[in-house]
Amino acid sequence: MYTDKMLRDDALKGKNIVVTGGGSGLGKAMSHYFLELGAKVAITSRNLEKLRQSSHQLEQETGRRCLPVQCDIRHYDQVESMLQQVLETFGKVDILLNNAAGNFISPTEKLSTNAFDTIIDIVLKGSKNCTLAFGKHWIEQGQTNTVVLNIVTTYAWTGSAYVVPSATAKAGVLAMTRSLAVEWAKYGIRFNAIAPGPFPTKGAWDRLLPGELKERFDLAKKVPLKRVGEHQELANLAAYLVSDFAAYLNGEVVTIDGGEWLKGAGQFNILERISPEMWDMLEEMIRRNSEK
Ligand code: HXC
Ligand code: NAP
Repeated sequence: MYTDKMLRDDALKGKNIVVTGGGSGLGKAMSHYFLELGAKVAITSRNLEKLRQSSHQLEQETGRRCLPVQCDIRHYDQVESMLQQVLETFGKVDILLNNAAGNFISPTEKLSTNAFDTIIDIVLKGSKNCTLAFGKHWIEQGQTNTVVLNIVTTYAWTGSAYVVPSATAKAGVLAMTRSLAVEWAKYGIRFNAIAPGPFPTKGAWDRLLPGELKERFDLAKKVPLKRVGEHQELANLAAYLVSDFAAYLNGEVVTIDGGEWLKGAGQFNILERISPEMWDMLEEMIRRNSEK
């Protein structure tokens, strides 16, 4: 059921979409569904060989056009060239999905200044580079009904220890989403974000849960729904948000995490560990105390 597809056939027909980091993990899963829904998709990242393999697989599986374009989003000139390549092949682009990211766990005091910068450069500067290049192009062309969808995390607003560069950068991306949703609405550009909880991918798990951490910190246990997300669940949400069905949704961040971050936030949520017998005892104690 969690892997069922949500939108009707051809819901993205006529849409040309660029997905950064589209050659692996969640970017690849979302690209797959966009293609199935009739879109043309360009997937971009640093590793061209990986992109070629992924685009070949995506084209085989969906029968649609998927263009691999090499681009390190940290460099504005490469982003401009990537956009030109997409325009030369597809003629126009309608949707930008800022999905590429870099991350690893580390005590912050152990990080070199270059390590911190590397994450900020990929996540915040990379999303800014793509947004600015695509936005300028759309505004210059007078092209409306365009969309930017940003993938953030739930710690973009709570913050999180041990992934501080990522949290700092994702918070910036969320602020950019909300700011431009207002400023560029006049140009017909919609901005939204998705904050995913745990969705297992090799890229994230190798860097955030290396070795035995996978078993020691089973993320499914942190989620009230007691499971991690299915890639199709995220793809369904992303496809809806970039589609014309979401034409009145602007400046929103949609959390898809099974309730994970709220469980960490609610002061008394730890009382989940209290057994039914213990609740009876506690009630008796509380009532006795209030009689005095
Ligand atoms: C401390 C580290 C480090 C580590 C690298 N560095 N790994 N420092 N701990 N584990 C330091 C390096 O020593 C170097 O600093 C600087 O960071 C840059 O490292 P490079 O290897 O030269 O960078 P680069 O080749 O550009 O690779 C970028 C990367 C890498 C971010 C380090 O992991 C990568 O390519 N990641 C892309 C994919 C990814 O991260 N996916 C996960 C997204 S998951 P010095 O000072 O030595 O030069 C995600 C999910 C969030 O965001 C929520 C999940 C629930
Ligand atoms: P992933 O497979 O490692 O995806 C990251 C992608 O970014 C890779 O395809 C990588 O490709 C690309 N990338 C990295 N640096 C780049 C650069 N400088 N220029 C261009 N592309 C670059 O991990 P994922 O789990 O699918 O993550 C996808 C998104 O979801 C990220 O924004 C992440 O923060 C977010 N997210 C994931 C989870 C989760 O549970 N998986 C939870 C919350 C948020 P190359 O190496 O080829 O460049």
